[in-house]
Amino acid sequence: MQVNRLHPTFAAELIGADAARPDAALIATVEALMSEHAVLCIRDQGHLDDEQHLAFARSFGPLELPGPRREGEQRIAYGLYNVSSLDEQGEIIDTQSAQAKFSKGNELFHADSSFNDMPSKWSMLRAVILPPERGDTHFIDMRAMQPLVRTSASGRKSLFVGSHAWRVAGMDEAEGAALLAELMAFATQPQNIFAHKWRPGDMPIWDNRCTIHRGTEFDYARYKRDLRRANVNESGEERSMIPDSVGPDSFKLEQKP
Ligand code: OGA
Ligand code: MN
Repeated sequence: MQVNRLHPTFAAELIGADAARPDAALIATVEALMSEHAVLCIRDQGHLDDEQHLAFARSFGPLELPGPRREGEQRIAYGLYNVSSLDEQGEIIDTQSAQAKFSKGNELFHADSSFNDMPSKWSMLRAVILPPERGDTHFIDMRAMQPLVRTSASGRKSLFVGSHAWRVAGMDEAEGAALLAELMAFATQPQNIFAHKWRPGDMPIWDNRCTIHRGTEFDYARYKRDLRRANVNESGEERSMIPDSVGPDSFKLEQKP
């Protein structure tokens, strides 16, 4: 296996690994590389299927599952987040649809599931279909900054903010929002961005505790983009992202598959 750095402060690629065979040596290697680099793109995983993707993710912690499935959803395996521009039939969705608008939210810098009570450990996003151009994913290393909120897996301090954050405990709402906006503007200056240009078979993993990321535009009306994401928590039970205490009642009534 070969490791190459992709940015001065974080992000590396791992070449020659096979996530379909998560033996103890590979798991230990990925844990070590993630604590150092915070973003690790495992190249050439185009042979993986959804179940192998989920099994690999489970090697690193309990999964955070998406919300309950809606009627008829079966294009991708339950357990993976659908990060695509496609409908159930695999066709390009209407750019005015609710799903399309929801995906646009990914174009704001964020850490996945930062609105849950426990921070998500990692996300593992697998390329199934890529558009022929654009649609990069941008990453920011929050350890490269002075303000201190969390200690990351590397032992270095990191700032934990993102577009899901909307208020600061102990500050009034306007004051908190202004502080968050200032921190976000500082963190996301163009020179701090690592732009991941997707290659077929890529499976980047990122640490949601010390990096933030965003999707970027591509020609949604013209090209398919099908990415699938597994999310791993630090500890606890495998669970669904939608806490029981929030969400419409209909969610609570739906059965977990
Ligand atoms: C995600 C995400 C960005 C992208 O899957 O969590 O934010 O480029 N994706 O699709
Ligand atoms: Mn995301």
